[in-house]
Amino acid sequence: MADLLAQLEALAQSAREAIVAAADEKSLEELRVRFLGKKGEISQVLRAMGQLVAELRPRVGEVANRVRDEVEELLVEGRARLAARALEAELSGRPIDVTVPGRALLPRGHRHPITRSGEEIAAIFGRLGYEVASGPEIELDRYNFEALNMPADHPARDMQDTFYVEESTLREGVEPGTVLLRTHTSPVQIRSMLRLGKPPVRIICPGRVYRSDYDQTHSPMFHQVEGLCVDRGITFADLKGTLAAFARAYFGPRTRTRFRPSYFPFTEPSAEVDVSCTICGGKGRVPDGNGGTRRCGTCKESGWLEVLGSGMVHPRVLENGGIDPTRYTGFAFGMGVERLAMLRYGIDDLRLYFENDLRFLGQF
Ligand code: DAH
Repeated sequence: MADLLAQLEALAQSAREAIVAAADEKSLEELRVRFLGKKGEISQVLRAMGQLVAELRPRVGEVANRVRDEVEELLVEGRARLAARALEAELSGRPIDVTVPGRALLPRGHRHPITRSGEEIAAIFGRLGYEVASGPEIELDRYNFEALNMPADHPARDMQDTFYVEESTLREGVEPGTVLLRTHTSPVQIRSMLRLGKPPVRIICPGRVYRSDYDQTHSPMFHQVEGLCVDRGITFADLKGTLAAFARAYFGPRTRTRFRPSYFPFTEPSAEVDVSCTICGGKGRVPDGNGGTRRCGTCKESGWLEVLGSGMVHPRVLENGGIDPTRYTGFAFGMGVERLAMLRYGIDDLRLYFENDLRFLGQF
């Protein structure tokens, strides 16, 4: 019996040493088979036990069980140690930089210059506290014209000849001639006032508009950005300061602005806003390459470029938006995105935007 006990002791000792030294999962598995397997060392001892007298067997069995439990435990610890070591190695190894750009199989696209310009304009006003608003492109005459102080016979409608939705496609009960493609983003002024319920209203709305025009500077579909600010005590000085700040942010810090009296049915007074020419800096002339100067074609030598329409919101328009014009005042403005982007990037034909020629679009 002493023999078997000594054999078990020796077995336990060599298991301890071998398991601690095991360098990988595979050697651990081999050790498990060697010690605990059906033909393993412990089984052999237990088998040899058959030759002992019956009284001695329990003692040997007890020690054999203890050794088996210990070896099992050592194997569990060994596996945990290997896993911890592997994790450690991974963490202390060369880090993976997840910010490295991927290798694209195709060149990446980007947003259309008009989309981007509209978003840039909205972002400038976003920094001034304006929220982005939107409205439908298929609009009611009521919002596009009527509520903006342009009744059916108003001559200003002539400048905004539009596309009407055909009678046969209208839902039953809808009056023909009352549903159209919006000619400007101004109806969003009315919709925003009605939606917000009460001042302050500070919204900016980039969007598509439609008119029946087509030439070098007009497309039947184009983009505008509308702005509206209504609150107590808003004055023309607020309008001037806001639009001058916008012009500097969009065209550059040296840009000057000029306000000329104008007319819009939905503002009173109204003003057309010019910025100092982005090409000649307002001088009207550009270097001719021979030490002299020549006429600036962009501003036609005037030094100024017309960029937007604006004014103090007409009291009737405030009323149509559900706002009391005796308590509140506001200003509004509207600009053409294609035109602004043309002036900023020096593009001379508006139709280029919509031809989808990648040689043109790829430059932005
Ligand atoms: N809606 C005008 C247009 O399309 C532009 C405009 C002018 C908008 C003056 C305004 C404004 O909000 O105050 O020609």
